[in-house]
Amino acid sequence: MARRRRIYEGKAKVMFEGPEPGTLVQYFKDDATAFNNQKKGTITGKGVLNNRISEYLMLRLAEIGVPTHFMRRLNMREQLVREVEIVPIEVVVRNVVAGSMAKRFAIAEGTPLPRSVVEYYYKSDELGDPLVSEEHITAFGWATPQDIDDMLAMSLRINDFLTGLFLGVGLKLVDFKLEYGRLYEESGEMRIVLADEISPDNCRLWDVKTNEKMDKDRFRRDLGKVEEAYQEVARRLGILPEGGPGDLKGSESMQ
Ligand code: TMP
Repeated sequence: MARRRRIYEGKAKVMFEGPEPGTLVQYFKDDATAFNNQKKGTITGKGVLNNRISEYLMLRLAEIGVPTHFMRRLNMREQLVREVEIVPIEVVVRNVVAGSMAKRFAIAEGTPLPRSVVEYYYKSDELGDPLVSEEHITAFGWATPQDIDDMLAMSLRINDFLTGLFLGVGLKLVDFKLEYGRLYEESGEMRIVLADEISPDNCRLWDVKTNEKMDKDRFRRDLGKVEEAYQEVARRLGILPEGGPGDLKGSESMQ
């Protein structure tokens, strides 16, 4: 089989040229990084689980009318997605104070926020993804006011929907990060769509009863039972791979 063209390799995923123009194959790795690549490791089975979890969440979001880049899952570690131009902004939505917000303002982690807070970060490894305002985003041409309006409206809708979805399986959605892309339709029109992935790599999920962390913070903070936490999220969503937890290697290799 001919080798596929590798378009881009990120910290947790690889993008390959897709089978048709305008499509890409998104491959999920087991690699994990934290603190802008300073901490590196492997979470066995993470790629398989995140592929499933992200598929599930993107499909549920599409059902309520949120446009996404997701087309279909191809195998254990890959999904077919629409090729988009990634907006270089990470949109973080927070419901409870945690992580960098707890640090920045010296507020105890776990303090509920009276309303959801949306933050924007400029996607730049060299700069360590700095927090930016809407003014920076428009002044530097990273996105237009209309793009920001679209991303904000979608992010709040996604937050409401996912908060309920996770609560239904005993998980509190503390915060999460989204990425968006510009999709150019054949008509020449451009739409902002949800891209990247939604998984325990980019959400904070706490058990409703015990507040136990069920996400990448277990890796970032060396809390142990990292693989088990990702599996538990998938199990609660009802989407463990067919073979159960034993079937997480995901033998499809990167070609
Ligand atoms: P933070 O508290 O470290 O700013 O993270 C907020 C949320 O964004 C949290 O759910 C983890 C996620 N996140 C990413 O997905 N990628 C990143 O590079 C960072 C820093 C956070």
